[in-house]
Amino acid sequence: MTASSANKPFLRALAGETLTPPPFWLMRQAGRFLPEYRKVRADAGNFLDLCYNPELACEVTLQPLRRYGMDAAILFSDILVIPDALGRSVAFKQGEGPVLDPMTSMADVEALDGSAVLTHLAPVLETVRRISANLPQETALIGFCGAPWTVATYMIEGGSSKDYAKTKQWAYGQPQVFQALIDQLVESSAAYLIAQIDAGAEAVQIFDSWAGVLPEEEFRRWVMAPIAAMVEKVKAAHPTVPVIGFPRGAGLLYEDFAREVGCDAVSLDTTVPLEWAAKVIQPLVTVQGNLDPIHLVTGGEAMDRAIDRILNVLGRGPFVFNLGHGITPPTPPENVARLAERIRAFR
Ligand code: CP3
Repeated sequence: MTASSANKPFLRALAGETLTPPPFWLMRQAGRFLPEYRKVRADAGNFLDLCYNPELACEVTLQPLRRYGMDAAILFSDILVIPDALGRSVAFKQGEGPVLDPMTSMADVEALDGSAVLTHLAPVLETVRRISANLPQETALIGFCGAPWTVATYMIEGGSSKDYAKTKQWAYGQPQVFQALIDQLVESSAAYLIAQIDAGAEAVQIFDSWAGVLPEEEFRRWVMAPIAAMVEKVKAAHPTVPVIGFPRGAGLLYEDFAREVGCDAVSLDTTVPLEWAAKVIQPLVTVQGNLDPIHLVTGGEAMDRAIDRILNVLGRGPFVFNLGHGITPPTPPENVARLAERIRAFR
């Protein structure tokens, strides 16, 4: 650890220290709810162009920090740059979310080209270098990628899904074919995280947004095992860089995830009971979370009460305050200011 990183509250909390007040950042803080983001977004053309524009992506990453002084910046990019870099077609349509050309066969898996991933993602790595050079001294930089399971759902469903039926049918019916896809995603995503760290990321988060839709056995095979393999690769290259896992919706399986996957911290979704997390998860790893993002839309006393409960239950141990899922576009910016103030006032 360098002298400067030793002083960053976010990294100290990930290393297991209890800080009062706790450090904070918000999932999906870059983009969406800020008017200054919407302006850049409108000028940039399509969303992927923005992700591959180091100057604008760096600007958008720093916007929320200027307003609220979060303890960490998260790289502005998306989890779907990996399928894009593997040669699948990926588009973001206004109001529709991501649209991909759905994968249907082993031939599609075999056609994935992992050799050009880092070349394709060079602009994102350049963004990381720029952010790193422009970050306030106390602020840490988080790199990220999607977890293999969640990214695979987008590649097979062709976008967002209600029931993940096609992906589950691959996983249950043709596990060898599905394994080949997951293995490719493990390889490219781990290489991508390592490259982000080489470029200046000081911690990385692996987003498994749809981890919670699988039965136990499949959760172990398609959520825990691939993330464990990625953590192993990242740690082999960068033993001291902390990894945060976000197996959203894992329920009781959060415990085995925290015990067995090798992450330094786990991000708790909104539904995880606080006392249970304090008793079962926090002794194992640093916890991050878990304010319902809709509280940030609602604001007022209901939000204050929810913030205080989280601070009082999780703030006595290794903890990073965050949301239980990403911030949503209708969030009034003043509610984020109120949240930041309330966290900083905690004693
Ligand atoms: O956290 C941040 O602020 C950094 C940037 C970031 C984005 N996406 C930018 C983005 C991160 C960390 C993500 C992760 C991501 N992307 C996840 C995992 C986290 C989660 O919330 O579950 C997932 C599942 C995706 C896939 C994705 N990207 C979807 C489903 C959509 C469309 C719907 C939506 O939420 O807006 C996106 C688009 C996207 N990614 C936007 C941003 C700022 C909005 C694009 C726009 O401005 O038009």
